[in-house]
Amino acid sequence: MIYLTDLYKQIIKSFGKIDNAVDMTCGNGKDTLFLASISKKVYAFDIQETAIKNTQTLTKNYDNVEFIFDNHINIDKYITDKLDVVVYNLGYLPNGNKSITTSASSTLDSLKKVLKILNDKALVILEVYHHNPEEKNKLIDFTSNIDSELDVFKIDMLNKVNSPFLIIISKKNALK
Ligand SMILES: C[S@@+](CC[C@H](N)C(=O)[O-])C[C@H]1O[C@@H](n2cnc3c(N)ncnc32)[C@H](O)[C@@H]1O
Repeated sequence: MIYLTDLYKQIIKSFGKIDNAVDMTCGNGKDTLFLASISKKVYAFDIQETAIKNTQTLTKNYDNVEFIFDNHINIDKYITDKLDVVVYNLGYLPNGNKSITTSASSTLDSLKKVLKILNDKALVILEVYHHNPEEKNKLIDFTSNIDSELDVFKIDMLNKVNSPFLIIISKKNALK
């Protein structure tokens, strides 16, 4: 079985040169580590100190990661660069406190800010879970109505009940 995290990494690999990437939820650092290995610069957000520390440990051999111990809703306070690739792996820290989780409001509000600072060609990937129906439904609603200048894909596993799914926003043929 292929994990969605592996699938989106394959998709990101096909993007080409990445100057600025953002891991909006760095958690245990696997996505940040991957992005650090293929990008010039990576910003890694998390609201939990444990997550920031775990990610710092995992990426200790890279000097291109900027850690931001803050809610990703404040992205505009930290980033002025144009963004090439943005990843949200939503939900809670694996093996962590399940009550500290992404929320509909911060995910949506930060995504609206992200869309305003995308580079001419860009990719935004969200892994979405069913255990937060408000976040899931509002995201589907919002992304279904994004300006058609951007392409929005949903990748779902039809034969696995309640499995997570991907929403991929591609700007200027980023997937070509
Ligand atoms: C599923 S984990 C991310 C997994 C991670 N990308 C990895 O590769 O290990 C979700 C993370 O989102 C963080 N988080 C929740 N709400 C957040 C917010 N508003 N801003 C930033 N991080 C948040 C949680 O603390 C948790 O560590």
